[in-house]
Amino acid sequence: MVPWGHSGVRLEEAVADTPQVEVRDSPLRKTLFAPLEMRRRSDIIMSALYGPNGRGAHEAAQDQRPSEGVTRDGNRKIWRSVESPQTDELDLAELNQPKAPEPALFFQAHVDVVIILLTLLLTLAGITGTLAFPTWESQTCLLTTTNDTNDMRAVLIKDGKGPVDNLYLGETETPTPGPGKVLIKVKAFGLNRMDIMQREGRYPMPPGAPSTLGVEFSGHVVQAGAGVSEWKEGDEVLGLASGGAYAEFIVAPHRNLIKKPADLSWIDAASIPEVFLTAFQALVVLAEVKKGDDVLIHAGASGVGIAAIQLARFYGANTVTATASTKEKLDMLLSAPNGATHAVNYKTQDFAEEVKKTTGGKGVDVIIDFVGQSHWQKNIDSLAYDGRMTMLALMSGAEVPNFNLAPILYKRLRIQGSTLRARSEDYQAELVARFKREAFDHITGSSGDGRIRTYIHKVYPWTEIQAAHREMEANSNSGKIMAEVV
Ligand SMILES: NC(=O)c1ccc[n+]([C@@H]2O[C@H](COP(=O)([O-])OP(=O)(O)OC[C@H]3O[C@@H](n4cnc5c(N)ncnc54)[C@H](OP(=O)(O)O)[C@@H]3O)[C@@H](O)[C@H]2O)c1
Repeated sequence: MVPWGHSGVRLEEAVADTPQVEVRDSPLRKTLFAPLEMRRRSDIIMSALYGPNGRGAHEAAQDQRPSEGVTRDGNRKIWRSVESPQTDELDLAELNQPKAPEPALFFQAHVDVVIILLTLLLTLAGITGTLAFPTWESQTCLLTTTNDTNDMRAVLIKDGKGPVDNLYLGETETPTPGPGKVLIKVKAFGLNRMDIMQREGRYPMPPGAPSTLGVEFSGHVVQAGAGVSEWKEGDEVLGLASGGAYAEFIVAPHRNLIKKPADLSWIDAASIPEVFLTAFQALVVLAEVKKGDDVLIHAGASGVGIAAIQLARFYGANTVTATASTKEKLDMLLSAPNGATHAVNYKTQDFAEEVKKTTGGKGVDVIIDFVGQSHWQKNIDSLAYDGRMTMLALMSGAEVPNFNLAPILYKRLRIQGSTLRARSEDYQAELVARFKREAFDHITGSSGDGRIRTYIHKVYPWTEIQAAHREMEANSNSGKIMAEVV
């Protein structure tokens, strides 16, 4: 609640605490805009703000004009701001009665006419968005038309869950950034296998996660929540969230954001967070891959798989064997710079026998597995003494009837499961920080020549989200399937 009417409250503080405050200082605008504002819940809303927080505070104080503010709870207040002679700070003083219009407002009235005509034009054309243009006294007018100030477009799921056909582009409430969180306008987001499970209602959602799909994105910072000092409006970022990336706006923890390097496209940037952080966690943090290790990566052509193969090479693996189901995928993985050194078609070959041949009978030191049931026994057979296996998914099934525990004991195997989305904010923040320190700067875009690259299979406009999900369901991708917010 803004302490309107209490002299002694600094104007900047009051406005900063109340981002919804809109300041209008022209009688014509007041008269004409009021009825439009009443249509908040109907189809069109328009707002005109002067400067980021309304009319420039010091200018307002100097000319002593009254201004109208709208508080968070929707009450309108008439106020003027005054400069304190002692502190040179700006105070608020509420006026009981609005002053009569002044001749100086004549010019502003013309601007209002332009704004109204423009708004009507944009509205008739069905265009929503924000337009910025300079007005008098070096101020900027932001003209916004939207279907509802609180709503944004997002990919939604009819009936809450279901097949691909249930995906549609609709409207939902724009999230607001709480303490430690940041609101980002999304440019692009990545598809991940878990999105399919979530869409079908089979994904165990972490508590508090938004129901909108999508955990990785790139975009512009729009607003930083309380306590966030390292991000400001306009910063270009990529990031990881617990959900909500299939939308125009997303809220993410401030420590889960990474500054987008200028040489990465929005698509390349959005393709990094989930797959690289998952692969980094599984391979580097948990399996502790080290120089000279022999490594086996399943689902090698998946987004996470390609990231893991490159990271294994980056950390000095001796051999990296990748499995996939088609010759095209295996050829791609072998020909990629810093790709797999060996490739096995798990459908036609026994990968345990193949890695024994590759490693002179020793077996592999590290396995990253997403497959579970069908690969379990061969994984145990493939592991060398002191081998480590990180299990990230169970794509073929979760149950393995009748298996012998003895190799786990005598080969001193370490088998660990892991998740990323369900981890605590602190865990994710530490992971992001370590990934930034060790690997992120070495990642270049899909056409770059860095030691680690992004691999983009295909980019869809988000209006074609059903086709994008169908492609992932068909297992036809080599690398990331991406969507662009258009
Ligand atoms: N635990 C975590 O923290 C975590 C985080 C992120 C992702 N993940 C998991 O990591 C995996 C990869 O994710 P992604 O988004 O990168 O996937 P993706 O790009 O959609 O690729 C998945 C690939 O897995 C292979 N596959 C599917 N079913 C299989 C089966 N039954 N047996 C063997 N291979 C199979 C397919 O390639 P082939 O043609 O080669 O069979 C498919 O293209 C997913 O299982 C995902 O759930 C786990």
